[in-house]
Amino acid sequence: MGSGVSRRVMYGEMKGMHKVETVEQMPEEYRQTLLKIINALASTEFASVEQHQAWINKGPTAEDRFAQAQVCADEAHQGFIDCRLLRQFGPEGEAMAANLLTLKMGEHPLNAFNVPFESWVDVCGFCFLLDHVAWYHLRAMEDCSYAPLAREMTSMVHEERFHASFGARRIKDIVQNPDYAKLCGATKKDAQATVDKWYPHALDTFGAAKSKFSDLAVKYGIRKWGNEELRQMWKKDLDAQIKAIGLKVPSAKKGRTIH
Ligand SMILES: [Fe+2]
Ligand SMILES: [Fe+2]
Repeated sequence: MGSGVSRRVMYGEMKGMHKVETVEQMPEEYRQTLLKIINALASTEFASVEQHQAWINKGPTAEDRFAQAQVCADEAHQGFIDCRLLRQFGPEGEAMAANLLTLKMGEHPLNAFNVPFESWVDVCGFCFLLDHVAWYHLRAMEDCSYAPLAREMTSMVHEERFHASFGARRIKDIVQNPDYAKLCGATKKDAQATVDKWYPHALDTFGAAKSKFSDLAVKYGIRKWGNEELRQMWKKDLDAQIKAIGLKVPSAKKGRTIH
């Protein structure tokens, strides 16, 4: 347990068995489920780089600019790790990795990642809401039944935590710290607008409540929690954070496209 990754499956129907180490050991349904998860994960990493890169040098403080550069580097790093994992699946995974590297804004499979950032406040709003989504998704795979992915989670989870807490802190600063708000040329109204913009995207990104794919991921111990459980965990956490900052929690129904 030194690295935080056990050698045995910790949850799901395979609990107690040795973890899966290679693609050759996977039952077909397991292989397909995992391939889909890693492909979806990788798509968000490369899409995030595209969204963030234009903002690397535009933050109002040196720390903001450093944080943006770090976020871009982390997302690219995570995307390349995901591609390496995909390529272990042979020609099918190799084709997926190659395809992901060609997708542009507007072509990414998850809609939230096709939406460009409009302002610095909007960058912070995305980090606050969507990087918390990523953090919950990755936490669901901490110590997952596929050992190579579980090992990657030991760094990825903490990277996402940094992006999410950076966003949370900056949205709070825009609302509560007049000096920082002035540097951004923003007001509480702008902070509310970005929370309103990303909130439905964040809820949608957890996927459909009834999902065979989500059920299989939990059954095989790839994920600790299913789509709906994760969405509710995120909502409870983020609703409390939004309120504590002094903003209004948007409606969970408005603007939603996935249920
Ligand atoms: Fe990420
Ligand atoms: Fe992130």
